[in-house]
Amino acid sequence: MKNKKVIVTGGLGFIGSHIVERLNEDNEVLIVDDQSSGKIENIKHLDFTKIDTTLGDITAINLEEIFDGCDYVFHQAAKTSVPESIEDPLSTNEVNITGTLRVLEAAKNVDVKKVVFASSSAVYGDSKSLPLSEDLPVRPLSPYAATKAADELYCNVYSEIYELPTVALRYFNVFGPRQDPNSQYAAVIPNFIDKLLKNENPVIYGDGEQSRDFVSVKRVVDANILAAESKETGTFNIGLGKSTTVNQLYETINDVLQKDIESIYKNERPGDIKHSVADISKAEAIGFKPGFDFKEDLNETIQWFMNKK
Ligand SMILES: NC(=O)c1ccc[n+]([C@@H]2O[C@H](COP(=O)([O-])OP(=O)(O)OC[C@H]3O[C@@H](n4cnc5c(N)ncnc54)[C@H](O)[C@@H]3O)[C@@H](O)[C@H]2O)c1
Repeated sequence: MKNKKVIVTGGLGFIGSHIVERLNEDNEVLIVDDQSSGKIENIKHLDFTKIDTTLGDITAINLEEIFDGCDYVFHQAAKTSVPESIEDPLSTNEVNITGTLRVLEAAKNVDVKKVVFASSSAVYGDSKSLPLSEDLPVRPLSPYAATKAADELYCNVYSEIYELPTVALRYFNVFGPRQDPNSQYAAVIPNFIDKLLKNENPVIYGDGEQSRDFVSVKRVVDANILAAESKETGTFNIGLGKSTTVNQLYETINDVLQKDIESIYKNERPGDIKHSVADISKAEAIGFKPGFDFKEDLNETIQWFMNKK
């Protein structure tokens, strides 16, 4: 993508900052973020002459004014914590559904070329029909997942009746540099790396034989750009198409870091699903090709965390 004007909502967050980083060189990028979990630090290494940042809440600010004249909107801003959504469904609903609806409405009103929306594999709940494909019925098991499923429906409605092209990308378990290992609900990969680098014992919940489809943030950025540029609309899984157990992941990180630290096994967390893996064949329509090297991507992430120390 070159010489475009793009909006990245949630551009100070983990995934959003990687989209900003990739598009920064050849495009004009405008970030909309309220800094509720994102940080300016995530983009401090970039060329600020081509980045504009609006610090504001997508549920409150005038998005039309900001989106006017832009080509694409990459909508990443959301309340992302499942436990928080269970505690306080109304505020997750407000940001994730009302906020997304405001993004779609503004994009429609100023004729944005396309909106790419960050959905989640959480919409599948604990479906046992693996690999998970987009034609399965959605079965959200948390308010967070329910908001993502509702957002997908709104994206479709805007494509169908208002002729605003939209794509919803169902990200699986994304990992990569800048993912926060200290947040209360840290993802497993930065958590393991962080603990092992401090020579502490990481915790594995359950027997560690649960598996996930871990996909590098680099591939997620690829998918966003491909989705924006393709003619397709609709919903697409974005994962590696392969699963890794938590025990396998732990061993690999231990090996790469040349550590021999035991993990501590604790009781399975209520609501944790056993297995998840994406069928990524539909995403080939937007040009997203399988065949990434998980270990290479993981190595890169481990190196980043090591250099940060
Ligand atoms: N990380 C994953 O594995 C994963 C998996 C599936 C889906 N997703 C989705 O991808 C998107 C990005 O996730 P992430 O992991 O980068 O999370 P993140 O918390 O790092 O990023 C979210 C960003 O949105 C901003 N934000 C939140 N509420 C806002 C509001 N009201 N107004 C403006 N900005 C607001 C935050 O400050 C933050 O910068 C989210 O929509 C999330 O649901 C992530």
